[in-house]
Amino acid sequence: MSSGTRFAAPSITIDHALDGSATRTLAEDALDGLTQPLKQLAPKHFYDSRGAALFDEICELPEYYPTRTERAILEQEADRIIASSGAGELVELGSGSATKTRLLLDAMSRAGLLARYVPVDVHEASVRASAEQLVSEYPGLAVHGLIGDFERHLDRLPPPGARRLVAFLGGTVGNFRPGSRRRFLRTIVALLRPADRLLLGTDLVKDRATLIAAYDDAAGVTAEFNRNMLRVLNRELGADFDPDCFEHLALYDERNDWIEMRLRARKPQTVRLPGIDLTIEFAQGEDLLTEISAKLTRARLEADLSAAGLALTDWYTDERGWFALSLARTIR
Ligand code: AVJ
Repeated sequence: MSSGTRFAAPSITIDHALDGSATRTLAEDALDGLTQPLKQLAPKHFYDSRGAALFDEICELPEYYPTRTERAILEQEADRIIASSGAGELVELGSGSATKTRLLLDAMSRAGLLARYVPVDVHEASVRASAEQLVSEYPGLAVHGLIGDFERHLDRLPPPGARRLVAFLGGTVGNFRPGSRRRFLRTIVALLRPADRLLLGTDLVKDRATLIAAYDDAAGVTAEFNRNMLRVLNRELGADFDPDCFEHLALYDERNDWIEMRLRARKPQTVRLPGIDLTIEFAQGEDLLTEISAKLTRARLEADLSAAGLALTDWYTDERGWFALSLARTIR
């Protein structure tokens, strides 16, 4: 389904894959996750407009190094990444406010390859805003925005126009547990032709104090971001969580090398979720697990890639080795 003000913005297409399914997914996830022995919810439910704005604020925090480190690597390496991939089409999964995208588009433009940008995000306003901005900044650029969930709607991507670079930046791949990570990588493999490439941003294992501080900042922005999940449940499912009754926690699990964000009940409480006909009890000190953010090593990433049918072709990192961008292609 293409919409197109053919005069003002001749090259913007927006495709909606969601059609109300976001609330349905939240309802299903909540029913499933809140009735587990360890109550849990998927991190994708952080990102309503307020959650997206809080995340943008997190990216500016002194403690939160991933965004600026990834950006610095991109600034250094974008031309090499584009030379190595030869891409004319950038597909960005979880494009958000698309702030790092320009570095890649600029490099594609310098290489004379830039043809199309395909942002995929559940947040319609961000996709529309970045589409409009980018077509005005890059003459001749076509934007095909897909409003959808990159875990569920990649079958809705348009047929490839040129060599493709599928970018999954920011370290969001760390939100998957190891098995799901490989499964997700396999769905990406299915999108890649032999000359196409995957560009993956991954946060790397490092000292515990640095990691914890990044997820438990002094200004308390991450705590608010974490509690925002409860506000989403209140609004979407008519729940009656009192966010102030939950303490923000960031733990580092050294066995699994992942950060866990949790919300810990400060006192015993009953929460009603009429939207899914559910009432749940929290004991004092009981946790709701809201996010895991896995930290990888090059070896572990290569093992995941190869299990998914991908091979690493390029590895770019910062001098401290805190974050990595990698290029991968399909095996065979
Ligand atoms: C967007 C998933 C990469 O895990 O670092 C930031 C989200 N959570 N602070 C991350 C997040 C808490 C972020 N990702």
